[in-house]
Amino acid sequence: MAGKNMMKLAILSLSFVVLVAMVIGLIVTVNKYSEEKPESTKLDEDVKASIKAVCENTDYKRTCVESLSGASTKSTNPYDHIKTMFEITIKQLDAAVKNSSFMNEIHRDPRTNDALKGCKELAGLAVMDLRRAFDKMSGFSLNEFGQALVELKIWMSGAITYEQTCLDGFEKTQGNAGEKMKKALKKSMELTSNCLAMTTDISQALQEVAVPQTTNRRLLTLFSTDYNIPEWVDATDENVLEKTSMKIDRDLTVAQDGSGDFESINEALKFIPVRGKERYVMYIKEGIYKEIVQFPKNLTHIMIIGDGPSKTRITGNLNFIDGVTTYHTATVAGPEKHQAVALRVSADRAIFYNCHMDGYQDTLYVHTYRQFYRDCTISGTIDFLFGDSAVVFQNCIMVVRKPMDNQNCIVTAQGRKENRQPTGIVLQNCSIVADPVYFPVRKEIKSYLGRPWKQYSRTIIMESFIDDLIQPQGWLQWNQTFAFDTLFYTEFNNHGPGSSKLERVQWPGVKELPASRIKRFTPGKFITGDSWIPPTGVPYTSDFIYEPPKDDPKNDYSKKSNEEDRDYTPTPEKEKKQKKPKKKKKPKKEKDESSDKQKAPAEGPSSMAESEISAPYASPAQPPSQGASPTPKNGSFLRKVFGLFTKSNH
Ligand SMILES: *[C@@H]1O[C@H](CO)[C@@H](O)[C@H](O)[C@H]1NC(C)=O
Ligand SMILES: *[C@@H]1O[C@H](CO)[C@@H](O)[C@H](O)[C@H]1NC(C)=O
Ligand SMILES: *[C@@H]1O[C@H](CO)[C@@H](O)[C@H](O)[C@H]1NC(C)=O
Ligand SMILES: *[C@@H]1O[C@H](CO)[C@@H](O)[C@H](O)[C@H]1NC(C)=O
Ligand SMILES: *[C@@H]1O[C@H](CO)[C@@H](O)[C@H](O)[C@H]1NC(C)=O
Repeated sequence: MAGKNMMKLAILSLSFVVLVAMVIGLIVTVNKYSEEKPESTKLDEDVKASIKAVCENTDYKRTCVESLSGASTKSTNPYDHIKTMFEITIKQLDAAVKNSSFMNEIHRDPRTNDALKGCKELAGLAVMDLRRAFDKMSGFSLNEFGQALVELKIWMSGAITYEQTCLDGFEKTQGNAGEKMKKALKKSMELTSNCLAMTTDISQALQEVAVPQTTNRRLLTLFSTDYNIPEWVDATDENVLEKTSMKIDRDLTVAQDGSGDFESINEALKFIPVRGKERYVMYIKEGIYKEIVQFPKNLTHIMIIGDGPSKTRITGNLNFIDGVTTYHTATVAGPEKHQAVALRVSADRAIFYNCHMDGYQDTLYVHTYRQFYRDCTISGTIDFLFGDSAVVFQNCIMVVRKPMDNQNCIVTAQGRKENRQPTGIVLQNCSIVADPVYFPVRKEIKSYLGRPWKQYSRTIIMESFIDDLIQPQGWLQWNQTFAFDTLFYTEFNNHGPGSSKLERVQWPGVKELPASRIKRFTPGKFITGDSWIPPTGVPYTSDFIYEPPKDDPKNDYSKKSNEEDRDYTPTPEKEKKQKKPKKKKKPKKEKDESSDKQKAPAEGPSSMAESEISAPYASPAQPPSQGASPTPKNGSFLRKVFGLFTKSNH
């Protein structure tokens, strides 16, 4: 028994080594410089080692080391450097845009002007995302680790997307403004990428700790991604959407026939209180509203109800955007190619239920953050679902329409730029079918499931019906062999005549995966939907919809790469029946809120887990010792690291 415990202890200690890989790395390095050197040199070396440690796993190491060395942070604590990195990035991005002389040049090409204007606003959004990530990093409590990490990554990913969207705006513009912008943003983009890399490092290190102790309730709490139910959702409201819409209290009614408070949506928008903390319900009565609508970021917690997808209709360009007021996506607004985004969604935790989005090319721009679509119908021709959010379409119908001659149809064009971004398009229990006009010519005018808009394009089609309009090869190249190795496309448990994988393209990025590796793309995990979708009353399935096929050891599944789950923050399984732990009295260092759920741990592994886990933040492993050297020591060091991540009262 003792031997076994020792072994487990060893494993746990190892986990800790991994947990603070960079920290330990630092300590080891630091020790190398011990004693002989004069104190000041030694401190310098320690600072250098600390910087090197935080930059270790970034993609742009040189940029990382140079910027941090140039900063005045003379700390040996890696977390000080991580925070400094965020500050530098924000400054850099701010300066790059505000300060670039060419930003305010007037160009003859209206698209260039539009793109420049867009960049200013997008950079502002990126800065905002960096800032809130920075703020979050400086103070979250231990029991919201999971949630905090998920949000950090979503926001960092948002910043990356906004920067990229700025550059995308210059596509097909005249002159060299696009090139200039690319240069101006280069460093900011590298720094932003580094910030996400550091966040990912922390997240992965923490997961290493979580894995061996999945039976430990304390950690489950630690990694819970549950949010508190938003205050604006009244618990008694729960199934509000399943009742007829007539029963929901409306704060405001828009009706074309003059029977409401306003006759146009835009008129009504001006009257909605900004930054509302409670749900604000806008009811739009039956009618065709020819308006371009933008919901600005300062309108929060808005719910919009119509009389049904075929009755209340908004035509023209609708821009649903939780971000900016006027921001034109120049690339997608050009008339000559019939490109027109019907709907752009740049809001976090956006939900669409029982809606139709109709368009041709680029119908639905799922731009950033987390989004959920349920029972919706989306129609279009080329790349008609595109963008870089983490999005799940559940029980939706994708209707492919007839394009112009010489065009192909492509259902998705996912635009993930970096493999640390937690983004991707997931279709679950959807149907991919042809519009009646397109149906007769579906064999001549070809259709595909998707193509890689950006390097790490990721699309998962599961449990869906794929009709015979989809070509046997399934996926289409963007240009030549672009992203063949880095994209991530997989089809899982689909059916229908177009679902056969026998003749699919053989790119390295097209994967064959077992259920165990697909599960992380179900909405409960991929967009942490359990915490924010059910409270709205929108019907929702968290997990697989159908019983998935068992993993088959004989199947030749794609080899798992290091990158596959790099972006993922695992969440604990729903509490399974656990063996009643034997009670064992033990002084609690931290107050547990639900004492019933958090009995003292059992003997054996979980008990050890508990004591090991509590070490860094709760146990007095190493009192600040006498004659403390500037070199941080193991116990206090770990505590310090965690301390920075926790609210001061912990
Ligand atoms: C950017 O702004 C700072 C101060 O506002 C100024 O010192 C610097 O010269 C500017 N840089 C450019 C390239 O305009
Ligand atoms: C809300 O945002 C809109 C669009 O950005 C802006 O016009 C309006 O002034 C804002 N309102 C307030 C009170 O900040
Ligand atoms: C799958 O989606 C269809 C609508 O496309 C729906 O009718 C059906 O009930 C869904 N299946 C399940 C099990 O939810
Ligand atoms: C292919 O597309 C990618 C992404 O848009 C682009 O970076 C690359 O330069 C293109 N390559 C060619 C050969 O056109
Ligand atoms: C920390 O390091 C000291 C030596 O510097 C050692 O005596 C002590 O056992 C270590 N503590 C832990 C918890 O590893």
